[in-house]
Amino acid sequence: MVEASAPAKIIFFGEHFVVYGEPAIVLAIDKRVYTRATLGRENQIYINSHELQASGFFTGNRFQTEKGGKEAERKLQPVGTVIRKILAKSKEKVGVNVEIKSSIPVAVGLGSSAAVAASVATAVGKLLKVALSSKDIFQLAYEAELFVHGTPSGIDPAISTYGGALLYRKDKGYEPLQVEADIPLVIGNTRMQRSTGKLVAQVRERRDRYPKIMEPVIRAGGEITQKAVEALRRGDIATLGELMNINQALLSAIGVSNETLERLIHAARNAGALGAKLTGGGGGGCMIALASRDKLRKIADAIEKADGVAFTARKTDEGVKIEQQT
Ligand code: MEV
Repeated sequence: MVEASAPAKIIFFGEHFVVYGEPAIVLAIDKRVYTRATLGRENQIYINSHELQASGFFTGNRFQTEKGGKEAERKLQPVGTVIRKILAKSKEKVGVNVEIKSSIPVAVGLGSSAAVAASVATAVGKLLKVALSSKDIFQLAYEAELFVHGTPSGIDPAISTYGGALLYRKDKGYEPLQVEADIPLVIGNTRMQRSTGKLVAQVRERRDRYPKIMEPVIRAGGEITQKAVEALRRGDIATLGELMNINQALLSAIGVSNETLERLIHAARNAGALGAKLTGGGGGGCMIALASRDKLRKIADAIEKADGVAFTARKTDEGVKIEQQT
């Protein structure tokens, strides 16, 4: 048995703009996905995901649902593909069973699908004694993300693999960011699940319809991230808060905010947040608020009063890792 885990993430600055080559800042947070892998019957892959409420068996090209009805195969396909690729590299004539548990709410912009893929790749690679570098794990998780949302930038698999704080650019990859400052955050979940792939496609449509308006918005998004990198280095959280508010206005301009997100964001600002914005794909999902430590409780209460689910989060430096092995 091998158990591996990988962290969730928040995008601090630059979601969506990152798809068009702009930089984004992403932080791994202390909420993780855990995957337990054991050997199984030859040619068979069994996957059970508690959060997706789906389980079943892949045998060759066939899928047999155990739990989760018609949707189960589609939900489990990305994980099945990761496992199949590792099995193909292994010399052993075996099958694999995986159990996936998570403290990350799914489909709300916290990168749960990439964390699942990274933890599965790590657990199964170790179980089958297939040597996988961090780059291989990133690549496998990236390929799984292609199933989940069409044209991913790669930001989610990168942070789940490496942890910490990263400056991410689609063409240049990731660069670790030195963050000395405490970044006290409250995350507010609207509980509205949505598809990142659809939102990315909607933004593309709007950009294609109004290129002269949208291009400058996207470039301004990139400028915000650059300024935020400097503010992070200085530990200047007041400037970071202001930049978050400007970033939120641009996300609204590209069409990915909504009334519920705005309600939670304004509740957080009114309760003393230095800045607040949606995080991830938008259209529901989660928002984040930055504040001094003594205000976190008050902000979390305000978000809950506005009908969100609030929790505090900390940055974690731990990327994907083996938890235990027997
Ligand atoms: C999703 O967490 C972030 C987006 O920028 C999409 C992506 O970068 O793949 C919305």
